[in-house]
Amino acid sequence: MSNAFHTPSGQAGNASRSAEHTAFSPKLGNDVVKLLSPQPEQRILDLGCGDGALTARIMQLGADVLGVDASPDMVEAAQQRGVTARVIDGHQLPFDHEFDAVFSNDALHWMLDPQAVLSGVKRALKPGGRFVAEFGGHGNVAAICTALIASLQFRGISSKGRHPWYFPTTQEYTNLLQTVGFHIDSIELIPRPTPLPNGMGNWLDTYASPFFHGLEDDLKEAIFDNTINLLAHSLSDGHGNWTADYVRLRVVAHV
Ligand code: BEZ
Repeated sequence: MSNAFHTPSGQAGNASRSAEHTAFSPKLGNDVVKLLSPQPEQRILDLGCGDGALTARIMQLGADVLGVDASPDMVEAAQQRGVTARVIDGHQLPFDHEFDAVFSNDALHWMLDPQAVLSGVKRALKPGGRFVAEFGGHGNVAAICTALIASLQFRGISSKGRHPWYFPTTQEYTNLLQTVGFHIDSIELIPRPTPLPNGMGNWLDTYASPFFHGLEDDLKEAIFDNTINLLAHSLSDGHGNWTADYVRLRVVAHV
């Protein structure tokens, strides 16, 4: 993994599923579960299952689901919901032609070696098995990233090595999937402006800590405040209501 900042999960960046994340992400994940269309008794791997909210939904639809996440805390939370879950880094999936489908929602952008991930996904699938995923795509949180990078630069700090995410274009991900041996059924970028009920400060705290890694508290605070001031022009309505500039990449492929 190329990034110096690792979560307890071993994935780059902040926790893949946080308290704020879980407040709205499972609802947003409904469409991708529909796309998965899990059938009773199908064996399904939920890659980056987080706290297991969507894994449990897939289980309720009758499938035999295993959730994996690199964060022991998240796996424990998933197990407390009654989900079967294991601590496994998505870059090192150990499965061999066992699953009818691999599902992933809101996790793959934290895994910075996508070829290693996709190779493991392919190996995990039975012949003809499908891969259904949604994660951050090209342009995701672009304004937020630009404001963070500009605020760091304003203080003379390079953003090199601080950006914790992989947000590919459809062309880039198509090429990668084909290189690994997948056939693509559909792939699209979906702009999804996402309200932040707890504000931009809370979002930055939850997701953007790699940008502030190793900085003194005073400096961190100044960069944090500058970022929020820059973003207020485009992502706040002036009444304290914030919306993040999310763009999702949604893909269905099979082996
Ligand atoms: C997420 O994990 O939900 C996320 C991470 C970075 C940007 C946007 C969303």
